[in-house]
Amino acid sequence: MQRYAVFGSPIGHSQSPRIHAAFAKQCGIAMNYDAIEAGHADFAAKLAASGVRGANVTLPLKEDAFALCMGNASTRAQRAGAANTLIRDGDSWRGDNTDGSGLVRDLTERHGLDLRERRVLLLGAGGAARGVAPALLDAGIHSLYVANRTLARAEALADALGEPGRVHPRSLDDLARLGEFDLLINATSATRGGSLPTLPMALAGRRSAAVDLSYGEAAVPFLAWARAAGCTQALDGLGMLVEQAAESFLLWHGLRPETEAVYAELRARNDGLVTAD
Ligand code: ATR
Repeated sequence: MQRYAVFGSPIGHSQSPRIHAAFAKQCGIAMNYDAIEAGHADFAAKLAASGVRGANVTLPLKEDAFALCMGNASTRAQRAGAANTLIRDGDSWRGDNTDGSGLVRDLTERHGLDLRERRVLLLGAGGAARGVAPALLDAGIHSLYVANRTLARAEALADALGEPGRVHPRSLDDLARLGEFDLLINATSATRGGSLPTLPMALAGRRSAAVDLSYGEAAVPFLAWARAAGCTQALDGLGMLVEQAAESFLLWHGLRPETEAVYAELRARNDGLVTAD
């Protein structure tokens, strides 16, 4: 039996085993997919001991995973400085990052958003923000404002993206001066700790869409703010979760699974906490 796993901490509530089991069943592939608790200190050892042919990597290990496959990482993983997918390559690992394309696929194909020429606000400049920023630029957005509590981190992300004409680092204190955005993305971990930073209502209007990269309880405060600010669409990260998983599955097995039924099942489980689209 082929073995796969997701590594991270905390990992107990990960939806990835359920998603990959559904994909495997659909595609007629026999595999095991486990959730393995690991932190910075023991990730490499646990990965080696697990015997997996491929792995997903989530918080807080995406940079660690990238470091493990530094010489053998896809361009998009290099641009993100983080890997969420590892593919066994002999005795070593090849790394990729499917988060950004997962988000773009969810927004454009599932939710019908046209990202071209859009003015986009990305809240946060940590691992989650880095994972999605390159794919947003590649999707043809007009401009990306990266607003972060620590300005230096927003500046570092903007530098790494290497498109000074389109990417603008800002501190959260500048938000009141930035005007209205077509798309607002919450990539901070603020609400996992319980408190959303203060966001001016003028950032969003009736033509705006908002997406929180997390889901469940963690997505509630930002999506509530987005609806109050008038956004026509307020989306959580469940769709991105399923799409990034599908792309990891494709990298491992050479088959792209259908995502809609899996998404619908997850959506039903999360009912009551979610979108207004
Ligand atoms: P992740 O991998 O989830 O992105 P991370 O790399 O630790 O985790 O990044 C967390 C992000 O959430 C950062 O942008 C962080 O801002 P700082 O760079 O200033 O630390 C942001 N964040 C976390 N708690 C926050 C809060 N209470 N208010 C505003 N931003 C917060």
